[in-house]
Amino acid sequence: MNAGKQVPASGPVAHLAAQDVLIQYPAPGSGRTGVTTAVESCNLTLDRGDFVCLVGPSGCGKTTLLNAVAGFVPIAGGLLQFGGRDIPGPGPDRAMVFQQPNLLPWRTVLANVTYGLELSKVMKKAEARDRAGELLELVGLKDAAHQYPAQLSGGMQARVNLARALAVEPALLLLDEPFAAIDAQTREVMQAELLRICAAKDVTALFVTHDITEAAFLADRVAVFGPRPGRIVKEVTVPWPRPRDHSIRRTPEFLTLAEEIGESLYGAIAEARAHAAQEGA
Ligand SMILES: Nc1ncnc2c1ncn2[C@@H]1O[C@H](COP(=O)(O)OP(=O)(O)OP(=O)(O)O)[C@@H](O)[C@H]1O
Ligand SMILES: [Mg+2]
Repeated sequence: MNAGKQVPASGPVAHLAAQDVLIQYPAPGSGRTGVTTAVESCNLTLDRGDFVCLVGPSGCGKTTLLNAVAGFVPIAGGLLQFGGRDIPGPGPDRAMVFQQPNLLPWRTVLANVTYGLELSKVMKKAEARDRAGELLELVGLKDAAHQYPAQLSGGMQARVNLARALAVEPALLLLDEPFAAIDAQTREVMQAELLRICAAKDVTALFVTHDITEAAFLADRVAVFGPRPGRIVKEVTVPWPRPRDHSIRRTPEFLTLAEEIGESLYGAIAEARAHAAQEGA
């Protein structure tokens, strides 16, 4: 059953609309014919300004869906549209934030943030530097502008990673476990900062995480993926306005909501393990 929000046949155009999306990869060692179906019958709609978190078992297709939205991976069926149009390939209207910052080690923090702007030649160098400076201030790294990546902590690198993605002023930010590699305290700080930045920049976000409390703290809706081939089996609405204060995490309502997400997620994980055991038998 597909519990994802359906794309309306008419009415206002959704910012991002996935309808019955099918994504396949060539299966390893199967020649030209075999395929691995990573995502199937996947439905998801984001309106402008939405913050949606994707959670699901490992290998269920979350990164694949993000890659398709980013334009790195083609779809094999269904409909995937951004701003009412098919996605022809990568574009500056969609920016991806990966788990590993992969900053350019020979460039300063500021030059890492201006890099994408230099490549796309959308503005003059001085303008790019000004924009990067503003973003570094926004992510709390103004004083580190002239340092090199090796001189930064993991949390600082994650901030540069975010500033770099925001530099092209994307209409949609795609984040694939961007805080997974940083310590728990810094991660909580980064979560609150991300909400503040999204509000300041009017950003729409699709954020993949394995962390239920991270999803419940950040999102307007948490979409739970079922086991591969991935599709959204449940959407949980998070009722509190954003940005949110950390104190919300300790309220009984938050814990109840996290439990609801957890029930669906752990159900999907158990199903994924049962599939894997069957395939291995
Ligand atoms: N480039 C690729 N070529 C072939 N198969 C791939 C490729 N990328 C992913 N897959 C397969 O597609 C399926 C979904 O992978 P994906 O990386 O999207 O999962 P995920 O939900 O992001 O997992 P995780 O939570 O572990 O990051 C997996 O079975 C994976 O092996
Ligand atoms: Mg992934």
